[in-house]
Amino acid sequence: MVKTVGLPTEVKDGERRVALDPHAVATLTSAGLRVRVQQGAGIAAGFEDSEYRSAGADVVPDAAEVWASELVVKVKEPLRCEWKWFRPGLKLFGYLHLAAAPDLARALQETGVEAHAFETVREGRHLPLLAPMSDIAGRSAAIMGAYYLAQGSGTLLGGSAGVPPARVVVIGMGVAGTMAARGARGMDAEVTGVDIDLERLRRLHLDGTLTATLASSSSAIGETLAEADLVVGAALVPGARAPIVVDAAQVRSMRKGSVVVDLAIDQGGCIETSHPTSLSDPVYEETGVIHYCVTNVPGQFPRTASRALSAAIASRVLQLALDPSDPLLTGSLNVAHGRVVHPVVAAALATSLTAVS
Ligand SMILES: NC(=O)c1ccc[n+]([C@@H]2O[C@H](COP(=O)([O-])OP(=O)(O)OC[C@H]3O[C@@H](n4cnc5c(N)ncnc54)[C@H](O)[C@@H]3O)[C@@H](O)[C@H]2O)c1
Repeated sequence: MVKTVGLPTEVKDGERRVALDPHAVATLTSAGLRVRVQQGAGIAAGFEDSEYRSAGADVVPDAAEVWASELVVKVKEPLRCEWKWFRPGLKLFGYLHLAAAPDLARALQETGVEAHAFETVREGRHLPLLAPMSDIAGRSAAIMGAYYLAQGSGTLLGGSAGVPPARVVVIGMGVAGTMAARGARGMDAEVTGVDIDLERLRRLHLDGTLTATLASSSSAIGETLAEADLVVGAALVPGARAPIVVDAAQVRSMRKGSVVVDLAIDQGGCIETSHPTSLSDPVYEETGVIHYCVTNVPGQFPRTASRALSAAIASRVLQLALDPSDPLLTGSLNVAHGRVVHPVVAAALATSLTAVS
């Protein structure tokens, strides 16, 4: 059984979230766990060190002390500067997205870390620890897409009297795609939803979230993209590398100044021309199309995102410390005993390693 839990300050560019808020920390300390919080870890999300102390945590000055805990809980995947703290027996719980991060997967295996990923925890078909951040990223995709569309082609999503609204295409109508579509519809855009799940498309069309639907197939998407102002990528096969749904030629067919927001970039991206960007340098242009491919979109809404994440993970962190075999943790384990043990993640990594060798 784990007795110490560490909560480090996030180090990824622009990342202002913290994995556990003081309420969640109080849940852990009242169950007898010792929680070490890095000084200032919650400040950007509006949580003072004094609130963590009142919740029973030890607030410590350095990251090294936090990482010396038996279980480390963090938001984003450890960056290279944090790998020095990997060691046999360390338990790690956070967003890892290993299918798109073979070097991190190798480092975890070689150092004997037991790595659990938020994004692969399952409750039936539902991904309860990915959903809260997908919700926020989806809402944000509509906001960022609308902003960059103004910078690019100078188009307003809702149009105006005598001017038709912009056309938005959302690929993957799960949690993130649905929220992106709702956001764009809220600004009066026309929104076409693309998915392989026709029942989901039917429901979202009937409830007014979508103005049109399209079964996901490369040629059908091509015709729609040529007319699109904003494309949001949110297709996911849990644990696997994101499927490439839009190829480079289809992106080239889009109008100059149109925008791609590829949320699926954390799993490798579902648009061929996407590559990861950061919150401090979020966009690049390829064949005249603006690409926004930030891998930690919710990091720019740290108060809301930290509270939402913390509420979703608190009971699971407790179970990981007390009894990792609990069904609440189904699907979490990605790396153990020097091997990638999650079958879908392992298959994705085997494919990516074969592709580069
Ligand atoms: N960039 C960020 O900061 C950020 C934040 C949160 C989530 N995300 C990512 O957003 C993506 C979507 O997450 P989610 O929680 O909405 O997933 P979800 O499982 O709720 O939805 C995924 C949808 O994709 C559909 N899909 C699968 N293959 C498809 C294909 N070939 N064509 C069209 N649709 C397809 C599925 O049917 C499903 O409806 C994930 O990659 C997730 O990691 C990114």
